[in-house]
Amino acid sequence: MSAHSDGKAITRRRTAPDISTRKGQTPIVCLTAYTTPVARLLDHHVDLLLIGDSLGMVLYGMDSTLGVTLDMMIAHGHAVMRGSTQACVIVDMPFGSYQESREQAFRNSARVMSDVRCQGVKLEGGLEMADTVAYLSRRGIPVLGHVGLTPQSVNSLGGFKALGRNDETATRILDDAKAIADAGAFAIVVEGVTEVLGRQATEAIPVPTIGIGASSACDGQILVTEDIVGLFGDFKPKFVKRYAELAPAISAAVAQYAKEVRTRTFPSEEFCFGIKKES
Ligand code: KIV
Repeated sequence: MSAHSDGKAITRRRTAPDISTRKGQTPIVCLTAYTTPVARLLDHHVDLLLIGDSLGMVLYGMDSTLGVTLDMMIAHGHAVMRGSTQACVIVDMPFGSYQESREQAFRNSARVMSDVRCQGVKLEGGLEMADTVAYLSRRGIPVLGHVGLTPQSVNSLGGFKALGRNDETATRILDDAKAIADAGAFAIVVEGVTEVLGRQATEAIPVPTIGIGASSACDGQILVTEDIVGLFGDFKPKFVKRYAELAPAISAAVAQYAKEVRTRTFPSEEFCFGIKKES
């Protein structure tokens, strides 16, 4: 048993319904994780770990999330499950794995659920995905929705910029959130919207909103872990707070290692196997 971020003692892995019941209560703490060692570090501090398709950009150096495959998500899903025992683990469905039809979405989500044994999947999209979200939810697949700035639609949205600044987009995003909540999503990520819209969406739907650049009015927050520890790129979106700068520390350690190897000061005796004395 251990204390958790909301102060309560927990003994088992959190589920999607556990997250749903947190609507309007202590804010839900979420972060991305892609690997076992990082999942181990985060597990005791968070309520939910997301294997985001952002891993394409953060780990693989892609210029968008569009090239991420289902196999990549499943491999990283396994890694995060191995490194965690308490967090609710959600796997992002990559571009092209669910948009074609609700049957395609079910087939691929079911593969993720049975293979990874995670607690649910995340799908991007609003009104146009509501039928799919209902189809999955009614068939035992917990769905985390994702509305507002949806990175898989970067080509149609014309880039990554905050949405909801005019009435038309604000109304559309609110309608999207309501449709996905009505369809049975257990919570909804709301990304890159104004403070007012983050608050309105949170008040308008009965399930938790998980904000990323959507204000503290949301029921929870999520960020990309590498962003908050300074391990991803030079560009920092406005909504990212840097809690640590690990890149200079890693760079300094590697520079010191390189210097010691070149001067034969590493490995010193302490790091070498000695010759066993015969008795
Ligand atoms: O892919 C991702 O990491 C995400 C979160 C940042 C919400 O979708």
